[in-house]
Amino acid sequence: SLIGARAVGVPGTVAGLWQAHQRYGSLPWKDLVMPAVKLAEEGFMPAASLVEDIHDYREWFGDATNFWTYFGNIAANQPFRQPELAATLRRIAERGADDFYRGETARLIVEQMKRSGGLITADDLQRYQAVWRDPLRSNWRGFEILSAPPPSSGGFAVIQLLKMKEHIADYFDGVPHNSPQYIHLVAELEKRVFADRAEYLGDPDFVDNRIQTLISDDYIARRAREVNPAQISTLASVQPGLESADTTHYSIVDAAGNAVSNTYTLNWSYGSGVVVEGAGFLLNDEMDDFSLKPGVPNIFGVVGNTANEIQPGKRMLSSMSPTILLRDGEVEVVVGTRGGSTIFTSVFQTIVNLFDYGMTPYEAVAATRFHHQLLPPDLVTYSVTRPLPQETVQALGQRGYRAMPHDWEFGDVQLIQRRDGAWVPASDPRDRGVSRVIAIEAPAD
Ligand code: DON
Repeated sequence: SLIGARAVGVPGTVAGLWQAHQRYGSLPWKDLVMPAVKLAEEGFMPAASLVEDIHDYREWFGDATNFWTYFGNIAANQPFRQPELAATLRRIAERGADDFYRGETARLIVEQMKRSGGLITADDLQRYQAVWRDPLRSNWRGFEILSAPPPSSGGFAVIQLLKMKEHIADYFDGVPHNSPQYIHLVAELEKRVFADRAEYLGDPDFVDNRIQTLISDDYIARRAREVNPAQISTLASVQPGLESADTTHYSIVDAAGNAVSNTYTLNWSYGSGVVVEGAGFLLNDEMDDFSLKPGVPNIFGVVGNTANEIQPGKRMLSSMSPTILLRDGEVEVVVGTRGGSTIFTSVFQTIVNLFDYGMTPYEAVAATRFHHQLLPPDLVTYSVTRPLPQETVQALGQRGYRAMPHDWEFGDVQLIQRRDGAWVPASDPRDRGVSRVIAIEAPAD
């Protein structure tokens, strides 16, 4: 599910961006794609961290894919050119998503599948449709939250976490930010979210997610009351709550008040490692977002049950949580991040940092974060480069948690908040993203 052509799910990003442009775009499609063609043709200057990372991944893919043939010659301070990708993007600029799913690029993908022993056919590509879905909506502190519906679990999780926390607000009274007690309480909430995620969530075209129940006030109130404020809940006591039954994020607000919160992904770094020869781009390893077998963790250590098992034509469960908070129908916060299973716990902590701890947007994204995901039941991980203080780690140890740095640095939150009528953006200092407010000239009539 992780390396090579069998790890690839049908790519959706091109269809998604095309659909969004068809419905909402105001500039010609071609004008939007051509700058990318230019970068691929003339090359871009790779950051040292990118060069180092690609070299680190040589061993991960080994000889199983053509990754190194395509990226082995990347070097710092030398423009990196991708002529095949430039040709692909040019076809997409001229013919739109049709080229990718039904044209020359589709043909190249299918040939690559044959060469590398993959399963995606011309028919799979031809039939792929980006689907318009209504966002999940919920009310919280005078905001209307809009976030990603299934097949992402992200929106469900951000809503459950924010609202469960509200129900046990008294437990949080006087509890300092990121103190051991704070981390314990949040881990208790996160346990319950991951237990529901594992049991109920999967592609809504295949399974009834019971999503409206899972985000209903009554259900969330009941779930919140199960939190044990003093001790780690035993695994046996954290059952799914209903009786039966790598990645890029950007946040944008424009002068007209339109907002975009977009997370999209190849899944793990460099996806399956398979480059479509002649087309010059990497294919994802999205198959690993399915639950391969009940109880067997994926690369993020997350387990699932039959709701998210592999079936033909089914979409895999995501954790992506592109989120917008509206107040009185007006955009106030746009937020999201990369990070696999840590995505929604990061989005949740960022929102709480803003509204419960009065942090500025930058403080809210920069603060240390931690993560707990049901299994292992006592493990709390924290930000690698912005760790919890040693006293907190020790105190959590005394309470029965194993608190340690996450295996990789998680989250790269991109946040925009409207404050006193001005837009204040903030990018996570953990990675290379930057925020800009760009003044534009009013168009001449
Ligand atoms: O959709 C998901 O939940 C994953 N495919 C996201 C992967 C990801 O964020 C990788 N980044 N660190």
